[in-house]
Amino acid sequence: MKELSQAILNSKKSKIRKLFDMLLKSGSDAISFGIGQPDFTSPDYMNDAIIKALREHKTQYAPARGIPQLREIIAYKFKNENNMSWVKPENTIVTNGGSQALQLAYAVLTNPGDEMILSSPAFLSYYHLADYYGIKCVEVPAKNNYSPDIEGIKNAITPKTKFILINSPSNPTGYAFSKEEMDAIVALVLEHDLYLVSDEVYEKFYFDGMTHISPASYEGMKDRTITLNALSKTFGATGLRLGYIAASEEIIINMEKYIQYTTAGVNHPVQYGAIEGLKHVDRMNIPEIIEEYDRKRQFCVRRLKEMKFIVDMPKGAFYIMPKLNPEWGMDGDEFSNALVQEQKVACVPGSGFGSYSNDSLRISYATSDEKLEEGFNRIEKFLRNRNFL
Ligand SMILES: Cc1ncc(COP(=O)(O)O)c(C=O)c1O
Repeated sequence: MKELSQAILNSKKSKIRKLFDMLLKSGSDAISFGIGQPDFTSPDYMNDAIIKALREHKTQYAPARGIPQLREIIAYKFKNENNMSWVKPENTIVTNGGSQALQLAYAVLTNPGDEMILSSPAFLSYYHLADYYGIKCVEVPAKNNYSPDIEGIKNAITPKTKFILINSPSNPTGYAFSKEEMDAIVALVLEHDLYLVSDEVYEKFYFDGMTHISPASYEGMKDRTITLNALSKTFGATGLRLGYIAASEEIIINMEKYIQYTTAGVNHPVQYGAIEGLKHVDRMNIPEIIEEYDRKRQFCVRRLKEMKFIVDMPKGAFYIMPKLNPEWGMDGDEFSNALVQEQKVACVPGSGFGSYSNDSLRISYATSDEKLEEGFNRIEKFLRNRNFL
């Protein structure tokens, strides 16, 4: 038999999936801190709109860019919530989740042999997409508190660099860019004639009064930035698979072509739910959710510090990425494997997020207080059994 695609063959199975496989085998009292989704589900006011669309038989192909009413709301959202005053419906496109939005960015921006730059650790799809599109992903290790190393990013730019990819607040670290860091990234993009892909799926989840900054709101960035977002995290709707993009019209026209010949559009009835969701985002009561996540974040930091992990307070999203104490002599893969086998607690090893983070674990704390408490008690037991505490 002839060989299958090298790019796909060489792409490793996600460590998160592997972890879930192990956890499923370990029985019903297993606790997962591995899951990258909120602990709430899509609101009924959104679900009802999808059901209504179904009842009205909106089950034929939708336009490849998405239905016009939704694209109007998306443009309004970017203008009003993200200070992107230039966005018109022509600058938007609807996608199959944030994941397809990312894929479209790679597909439209790059040629094989191009380079992209990101601050590592980062969301794992960024690496795999680079392989699939034949481009080199240049990882610049983040600083100790997971802030981006701006000087390192600057030094990584070559004539082949096509874009920088940012994700603030970040999965997996929970770090969020300061205004100064965003200014610096934007300046690099402008100075070196690059594109910027800004993954803003966690834009609603900031702590300590920090607010979201969209780089496409900066002067000179409108034609250089692909801003992507999704219903997934804001609305607890990871299974609805609905994302969206703002970019220059030229980029959108080319994304539309790609959609036409690959997925032929996005689930039609769900787009009606998206209209209601985005129109009435205030009904999600985000401040209350943030208060809840803030409490869980504080709990995680306190317990992790007591257990001698090395950890900084996350600034956003619902992840924390503690570093293992070097005195324990274990890396993230060993720790995560042993923890799931001995204590049935799943934390994703840092190696799942890049080449420089196998000294850490990613914990998603979007789970119940009881599970957090029990999971951390088991981690403590795991450490005590080894005389690490
Ligand atoms: C940073 C980041 N970007 C994009 C996505 C993909 O989002 P979606 O589930 O909408 O495809 C995720 C999902 O976990 C994510 O964490």
